[in-house]
Amino acid sequence: MGRSSLWLRDHCRCAKCYNSRTHQRKEGIIQTSPPKIVSATVSSREKNVYYITISWSDGHVSEYSMDFLIDGSKKSAVESWSEAYSKRVPWLPTNLPQANLARIDVGSLRDRELALKSRHSILESLWKYGIAYITEVQPMEDDTTKAVEEIAPIMKTTYGELHAFEADLKRADTAYTDEAIGPHTDGTYMTEAPGLQVFHCFLHDGQGGENTLVDGLQIFNSFSQLYPREAELLRQKALPAEYIEGNSERNPKYPEVMNHFWNEDFTFKFDPITRKDLMQIRFNPYDRAPYPYEDATDIEKLYQAYGKLTSMIYDPLFHLTFKLSPGTVVLIDNWRVLHARNSYTGRRVMASGYIARGEYLSQLRVRGIVPQHV
Ligand SMILES: [Fe+2]
Ligand SMILES: [Zn+2]
Repeated sequence: MGRSSLWLRDHCRCAKCYNSRTHQRKEGIIQTSPPKIVSATVSSREKNVYYITISWSDGHVSEYSMDFLIDGSKKSAVESWSEAYSKRVPWLPTNLPQANLARIDVGSLRDRELALKSRHSILESLWKYGIAYITEVQPMEDDTTKAVEEIAPIMKTTYGELHAFEADLKRADTAYTDEAIGPHTDGTYMTEAPGLQVFHCFLHDGQGGENTLVDGLQIFNSFSQLYPREAELLRQKALPAEYIEGNSERNPKYPEVMNHFWNEDFTFKFDPITRKDLMQIRFNPYDRAPYPYEDATDIEKLYQAYGKLTSMIYDPLFHLTFKLSPGTVVLIDNWRVLHARNSYTGRRVMASGYIARGEYLSQLRVRGIVPQHV
């Protein structure tokens, strides 16, 4: 098994070392040269369930289940994450198997017998394609929040929690107009962009306003194949993004700036464990902050690369376009799938919200969709 005694002592699961109710350790790493192993014995309490008991020179006794020791060495983190990533299916609107996208009514998410399976379908669909739907939801904030929170809690941001918005420019963002918005991901200016994006159209009495989704994973694959050097540049050159908001719309008495988000990060972010899988695409041409002016050649190269990427993302070949209607909530992986909106007429009330990436991953892990033991 090749475990060091330091590792074994640090992973002791006795009541003095580990709280098995909270799954937390009770000790930090204090001893860098631990007591010696005096004896190690294998025992079995039930059929095929084995334990190893180790007695240490300081009198401490540790017991490990064989499963625990073997689990830890079964697969490396790189292997298990690579396997999880390989289950994602890049898509074009022409080859996306629409029938495979989860479309689960909210009743099933609450049904004693169907709940687990329904949740699993939604999470699996999100991981594989970056899209899932919850149907038969009342077009109201409270009902939508409760439906979405059958999956994971809604994130609280500067925009609030799940909130309905329309073209009234209540906040300093194009979303609060009736203009078209090209494909982008949200929160490039946040240190951690929202994990999932939630949309629910409460009302629309006019024309247009269709939503378009673009698979960032497919974009990355196509882009790297066609423009390997540019892809590498966008993987290594961090670009700044920002969101600045004055207070004047909300309270004319206090016109000072009340929000200034700023973050600099890569357009294509790779998983730090496997180092070869796209973990996140960050693309929002509107929220680009001023680029620091460096070498003229470098900045030209950057504009060339970003321009080529923008043309590809704007190419209708990659666009899955549909109109959302009241009752159907769409969940989108904001680290992978870009969203856009056509301009529209009439009154349109759209609800939007986020789920944090950590909450989403936690649910994926519980369902065994991403690695549990690494
Ligand atoms: Fe957006
Ligand atoms: Zn112990």
